[in-house]
Amino acid sequence: MNMRLLLLASITMGLLAGCGEPKQLAPSSATTPSGTETASPETPPESSAPPAAEAGTVPAEPTPPAAAKVEPPKNLAARKLAPERIKRGEEIYRKNCASCHGPNGEATPGWRTPGPDGRYPPPPLDGSAHAWHHSTETLEKMIQDGSVDGAMPAWKGKLTNQQIGDVIVWIKSLWPDEVYDIWHKEIENKPQPKQN
Ligand code: HEC
Repeated sequence: MNMRLLLLASITMGLLAGCGEPKQLAPSSATTPSGTETASPETPPESSAPPAAEAGTVPAEPTPPAAAKVEPPKNLAARKLAPERIKRGEEIYRKNCASCHGPNGEATPGWRTPGPDGRYPPPPLDGSAHAWHHSTETLEKMIQDGSVDGAMPAWKGKLTNQQIGDVIVWIKSLWPDEVYDIWHKEIENKPQPKQN
């Protein structure tokens, strides 16, 4: 009898202890891999960070757990933008457009402020401004005709339709994924309420 009680007691004690342990152990072992916190963002937001600086400062540790929560792989491939058109478009852009719209379509920091003549500087084309609110067709027209006051030159006759098309492909390649997605859904393929 006593023996059984003792047994029961020790078993329950064991169970209790057993129950308690994992609850305490599991979280602590999960959070602290080795005293180091996984605070390092290990990949910069992909954009224009000079790769040299990164290589110099962070000796890229093998930290698989942090890599798991990096952004999902959405990229240019999903857009079906032809790489050779992007390349051609970039060349055309650098020759003809970069002087005003910035080397990467980012324009100048002051592009929202009108100059002394009351005219706005050239806007960015990289998806941070308004350019992505236009369908491909509208962009073609804008580039062909320029702006009424001539601040944006007309490219009709200077660039072929093919070249203008290529530049537009390059401009689209600058847009962040979210922008491109919305553009594609809401602008380019917007169901037209009225035709004519
Ligand atoms: C001389 C400076 C200049 C050059 C060169 C130039 N642009 Fe522009 N661009 C402008 C200005 C200024 C505007 C704004 C016009 C307006 O709002 O009336 C503009 C507007 C635009 C827009 C409309 C942007 C929007 O947000 O609606 C597009 C697209 C564009 N340019 C593309 C191009 C491309 C492509 C080239 C090269 C083939 C080019 N631009 C060359 C000055 C320039």
